[in-house]
Amino acid sequence: NYPTNVKLVEVGPRDGLQNEKITLSVKDKVAFIDALSNTGIKHIEAGSFVSPRWVPQMANSQEVFTSINKHIDLTYSALVPNLIGAQAAVDANVNEIAIFSAASETFSKKNTNCSIDESIAKFVPVLTLAKLHNIPVRGYVSCAFGCPYEGKVDPSLVLSLSENMLAMGCYEISLGDTIGVGTPKSVYRLLATVLSRVEKSKIALHMHDTYGQALANVLIGLQEGLTTFDAAVAGLGGCPYAKGSSGNLATEDLVYMLQHMGINTGIDLHVLTTIGDKICKTLNRKNQSKAANTLLNL
Ligand code: HMG
Ligand code: MG
Repeated sequence: NYPTNVKLVEVGPRDGLQNEKITLSVKDKVAFIDALSNTGIKHIEAGSFVSPRWVPQMANSQEVFTSINKHIDLTYSALVPNLIGAQAAVDANVNEIAIFSAASETFSKKNTNCSIDESIAKFVPVLTLAKLHNIPVRGYVSCAFGCPYEGKVDPSLVLSLSENMLAMGCYEISLGDTIGVGTPKSVYRLLATVLSRVEKSKIALHMHDTYGQALANVLIGLQEGLTTFDAAVAGLGGCPYAKGSSGNLATEDLVYMLQHMGINTGIDLHVLTTIGDKICKTLNRKNQSKAANTLLNL
């Protein structure tokens, strides 16, 4: 018994572009996001307000957010690490803010220059500001299935971080497989721990596809009752501070699987594949989506 509808969060414009060698111009990003807005996707993570010294690829997010053609029924979210980022997100009129912590002290330090506890402390004013402006906040727990520096992570830490961020006011937690090391068995195990205390409607999966396991891992999520999944068109993605990280699950592959399982996504796969094709050409990179490669005869 699979769900009849699922929510997909397209992270291509943020996760997908933050690790690319070239920084896309505002014009190219706006064209990319505007095209995604016409696919039926309802949630787009369109950029991040992080330090431009840390992630120069996202430095033009402010202009991107104010230049896109926002559809009234779509959510355009921005990733932020602290109050400076949250204020910039509010100024850019984002519909949603995403905050991110990690289940690994080493990764937290490498990615945000602070400990896990310090990162949580930085989120307090972010949530206060978001509440003031009625902006929903989503939380990520990175390295939920493994860390590039520490290896195994403690599932009980993933659970406590998730509970903590929900208690602080996040409406949903996306469990991030930052380096794509999860397998169906480890996903099943982690979900058993997390879902023992957290309602399944509040948990999403954010799988990177380093070892080709992302779709299988999502299937476990579906079987455990999850209905929200992150993906990036053409399988773009990666974190500059996670050694060995690679692309996200390709949205096209996920949409193909769901549609053929009779699960409604509301997304036009054909339109989506043409967008993935175009952005890959702009970035001069190979399309990582198997479905897109087949459908486009690449
Ligand atoms: P820091 O250097 O310790 O920052 O970096 P600081 O607070 O000491 O401030 C230093 C300077 O940065 C100051 O400027 C601040 O104003 C400025 P100065 O006075 O020197 O001119 N600054 C900012 N500027 C713009 N926007 C901001 C901001 N904050 C401070 N928000 C910091 C700490 C957290 C800022 C930095 O480490 C950072 O930006 N990290 C973000 C790294 C990142 O974006 N990683 C990728 C996203 S996470 C991910 O991909 C995983 C995910 O996909 C899930 C998964 O896959 O698992 C979400
Ligand atoms: Mg990611």
